[in-house]
Amino acid sequence: MIFITGDTHGGIDMKKLASSNFAAGKNLTKDDYVIICGDFGCIWNGSREEAWLLKWYEDKPWTTLFVDGNHENFDMLYDFPVEEWNGGKVHKINGSVLHLLRGQVFSLDGVKFFTFGGAMSTDKIFRREHISWWPQEIPNREEEEEAILNLAKHNFAVDYIVTHTAPTAIVEYLNRFDRLRDPTSGMLDKFVPILQFKHWYFGHFHTNRQIHDQYTCLYNDIIRLI
Ligand SMILES: [Fe+2]
Repeated sequence: MIFITGDTHGGIDMKKLASSNFAAGKNLTKDDYVIICGDFGCIWNGSREEAWLLKWYEDKPWTTLFVDGNHENFDMLYDFPVEEWNGGKVHKINGSVLHLLRGQVFSLDGVKFFTFGGAMSTDKIFRREHISWWPQEIPNREEEEEAILNLAKHNFAVDYIVTHTAPTAIVEYLNRFDRLRDPTSGMLDKFVPILQFKHWYFGHFHTNRQIHDQYTCLYNDIIRLI
């Protein structure tokens, strides 16, 4: 089984995955997945609290997968070794927590996922570079090019797209004009006309909302995909 949900922000919003709220999780195995649409937030400062949070995830019956949001410590995150996993590249955080890199296509239980994390922090003027904000939050040209190369291998057709933010038209639909200047959305816009996909899931906007037929913004909802 594969489930997907929105931002967890370290210990702040992980309660949604506690067994009291996510009863289905109790019967999962490590071959089942819960995907987080960015702002995982447990790779932040290497504190003892953070180690406890990561152990909490490791002790869950399932395997946790996340794309990066904007609230991640990218210096720490990119220090984890890159591994090949189910067709794409991951950072293995621990035995059952994996970061899905940008521009990858993963085949999980015969279902294809295109992943492309990242987003711009709108509050970055209140944050300190490499302490509480990291410029790597914005995807770069190499990641975009790698995405195109990987998508070409799959004839530009996937089942699901998992990102942190959304294409510009969707951000406009959500009336989040404060987030329209994010170059990440501009990059995602390029994928829209060239990709065939069933559904696009994203987080970032801290709301649960279905948009048109093919887009869903997730926050506390946990949706079963397969
Ligand atoms: Fe968030």
